[in-house]
Amino acid sequence: MKTSSDAEVRQLYDDFVDHYSEMMDSEIDLPIYADLLSRLSERVAALPGPVVDTSCGSGHMLARYHERHDPARSLVGIDLSPRMVAIAGARLGANAEILLGDMRSLVGVATSSAAAVLSFFAIQHIDPDDALKALREWRRALCPGGVLLIAAWEGAGAVDYGGRFDAVARRYTEDEVSNWAREAGFVVDRCVVEPVEGFPMDALYLEGSKTAST
Ligand SMILES: C[S@@+](CC[C@H](N)C(=O)[O-])C[C@H]1O[C@@H](n2cnc3c(N)ncnc32)[C@H](O)[C@@H]1O
Repeated sequence: MKTSSDAEVRQLYDDFVDHYSEMMDSEIDLPIYADLLSRLSERVAALPGPVVDTSCGSGHMLARYHERHDPARSLVGIDLSPRMVAIAGARLGANAEILLGDMRSLVGVATSSAAAVLSFFAIQHIDPDDALKALREWRRALCPGGVLLIAAWEGAGAVDYGGRFDAVARRYTEDEVSNWAREAGFVVDRCVVEPVEGFPMDALYLEGSKTAST
């Protein structure tokens, strides 16, 4: 199965941005976000550099991280959709640098500069070869000890949008994502699979790190 092209994905999110942002206004209050973001802030506490969200969407994750967990940290958000970039930029203001870009090539993020790299519900839009390529790129961007945090739709086959969103997107198994992370040079510290309220699929949440030896 080939995922929708970048041009199609960009257009879909440009068209969907208001609805998506409204949905995230409540989703961001789910306990999983508090849990992941508080652990992230603990893990990066001793590390220099920004937290980079490689597909920041409406910017809710970065905004919540800034407001509740790590107000002094510099933040970078990247997204393929110009309208997502605009809405995230408006949400975060001077608290983050929000860039139009591609998760597979973090132009503007220097090598070994970032404390953490985040990818939330976005790798479904890229094919397996590109997922490995993206992970290698995220490792390039991270400082030694830097933290990787991925959320993705878990399983096999297509993402089930229930007819509400017209993209061909892929689910990936816990094993696939963990193996790509290891192949790209990460240590996988934790990976859990959980149901997501209101959605017919489980999500995986993977936490990894770039150790000095990997
Ligand atoms: C389901 S949304 C998730 C947004 C955000 N991470 C969140 O969890 O709320 C997927 C996002 O990935 C972005 N995206 C898709 N392909 C991308 C790519 N190749 N590079 C960067 N962003 C991409 C879309 O524009 C969209 O904003």
